[in-house]
Amino acid sequence: MADQAERLREIFRERQFPKVNRNKGLSRIIVVASGKGGVGKTSLVVNLAVIMGQWGQKTIILDTDLGLANVDILMDLKPAFSLVDVIRGYKDLSEVIVKGTFNVEVIPGGSGLHEIISMDSHQRERLVSRFSYLEERGDILLIDCAAGLSRNVLSFIAAADELIMVTTPEPTAITDVYSIIKIVSNYRLHSTVNLVVNMVRSSREGETVFKRINNVCQNFLDISMNFLGGIEFDQHVHKAVLNCSPYVLQFPRSRAAQCTRNIARRILFEEKTVNSVNKKEGSFINRLIRLWSS
Ligand SMILES: Nc1ncnc2c1ncn2[C@@H]1O[C@H](COP(=O)(O)OP(=O)(O)OP(=O)(O)O)[C@@H](O)[C@H]1O
Ligand SMILES: [Mg+2]
Repeated sequence: MADQAERLREIFRERQFPKVNRNKGLSRIIVVASGKGGVGKTSLVVNLAVIMGQWGQKTIILDTDLGLANVDILMDLKPAFSLVDVIRGYKDLSEVIVKGTFNVEVIPGGSGLHEIISMDSHQRERLVSRFSYLEERGDILLIDCAAGLSRNVLSFIAAADELIMVTTPEPTAITDVYSIIKIVSNYRLHSTVNLVVNMVRSSREGETVFKRINNVCQNFLDISMNFLGGIEFDQHVHKAVLNCSPYVLQFPRSRAAQCTRNIARRILFEEKTVNSVNKKEGSFINRLIRLWSS
């Protein structure tokens, strides 16, 4: 734990982002993370992206996880390349992006994303400019992370404008999510953490879990928590996965789909959520490079 704390201190010590002005109207860059694995991040990212696409938002998913149940599988996409091919100079970003339903675009991160730091300055500039173009073209960039507290995940959290943490009502998931919120607060990575409670038995259970976490945060941390909502435990989620189809498309009337639409509505339209965005300076990819190079 001491090692980990030291490593984090190293990562975030005296960090200054490049002073590149971002124009108005650029995408909201939202990272979805969790403490415990298997709580439903990928499922949430894919279904949120599809809903936002249905509502006319240009949505892009950056898949940074190499787990088994990946974004491409849930959307029945077969990407031939990944961001690593761009980093190595074999492909252009446009050749790596795959298009899913409702114009949702997916960028498969691939292993070795951190190879970005070994690019020469010319390659980096190219990647930064292509990626910035993408950021500007989209309305929402959703980043799906691996579970837990790796350096990569913390960098994605630090580089994004908004953070959604996912937990379930399980005590272990709550403890794990709290330990990440604590780090986010201690290192001032975000002033607000948005919370989704997945696999709840009722909306009341979601609220109870949120209140419990919120109480501890208010007592011990300097961070504000925003409840985006709960998603009920629903067999339709599993059924849709078996068909490689997002549940909001295959079972739009399911409880899980209704809950997820409520969350999408809060993200896009609720004043409290929209106003809690911490627009950071510089392009997202530039911020990542800075974090990884330190
Ligand atoms: N609301 C829900 N009801 C029922 N099952 C769900 C629900 N949400 C997710 N699941 C199931 O839980 C499993 C894990 O979901 P998912 O892969 O999205 O989690 P994850 O947090 O991305 O996992 P990892 O940490 O491995 O990346 C999947 O089998 C998914 O179908
Ligand atoms: Mg996942």
